[in-house]
Amino acid sequence: MTTLTTPRLIVRPFREADLPAFTAYRNDPAVARYQGWALPYPAEAAQAMLSGRALGEDGWVQRAVTLPDGTLLGDVALNTHGPQAELGVTLATHAQGRGYAHEALTALIAHAFAVLGLHRLHAGIDPRNEPVTRLLTRLHFRHEGTHIQSYWHRGEWTDEATYALLRSEWTHDPTQDLH
Ligand SMILES: CC(C)(COP(=O)(O)OP(=O)(O)OC[C@H]1O[C@@H](n2cnc3c(N)ncnc32)[C@H](O)[C@@H]1OP(=O)(O)O)[C@@H](O)C(=O)NCCC(=O)NCCS
Repeated sequence: MTTLTTPRLIVRPFREADLPAFTAYRNDPAVARYQGWALPYPAEAAQAMLSGRALGEDGWVQRAVTLPDGTLLGDVALNTHGPQAELGVTLATHAQGRGYAHEALTALIAHAFAVLGLHRLHAGIDPRNEPVTRLLTRLHFRHEGTHIQSYWHRGEWTDEATYALLRSEWTHDPTQDLH
């Protein structure tokens, strides 16, 4: 199964040994604030990370983001539906603010466009989630619009902003080539 390597990171399938750290950061209220998963994070949802599904298969497929020494930093994901996919990204608090999400997603986006041949990538975010807004903007995603109070989330009506990038808009950065 595909492993993506970047200058500082390894983006690989989840292993059983990742699950305690994975469950711990998914249960961190600061990490979960703008995410849709149930709290406490269900054990069966953690087990599902070991599904063995390949990136590009229909539905959500997650990958662990790790340092070369194996330390789990977070996860990235593709929710593929035909020639399009939704992106997901989560870092443990200790791993944020170091450019790791940008580096992991740069590799995942290159894989999605250059290897899987997808047409469009998109993400739906809460506009109050400033770190992910900055991240998607730095990755050249366009803000396509915002649905106001369009879903009920953690006790309140919540806005959803859609960001997207077409393969035809994607600028391949050779300094971020996969190794
Ligand atoms: C969204 C999320 C992944 C963004 O993580 P992040 O670490 O801020 O994102 P990046 O990898 O782009 O890192 C950028 C930050 O690292 C800093 N940085 C430090 N060293 C860096 C380096 N070598 N290269 C690039 N940036 C670096 C940048 O200055 C930037 O800080 P700033 O945003 O304050 O300007 C993170 O906030 C998160 O996991 N949140 C919880 C889950 C969530 O809400 N996910 C999105 C749901 S849609």
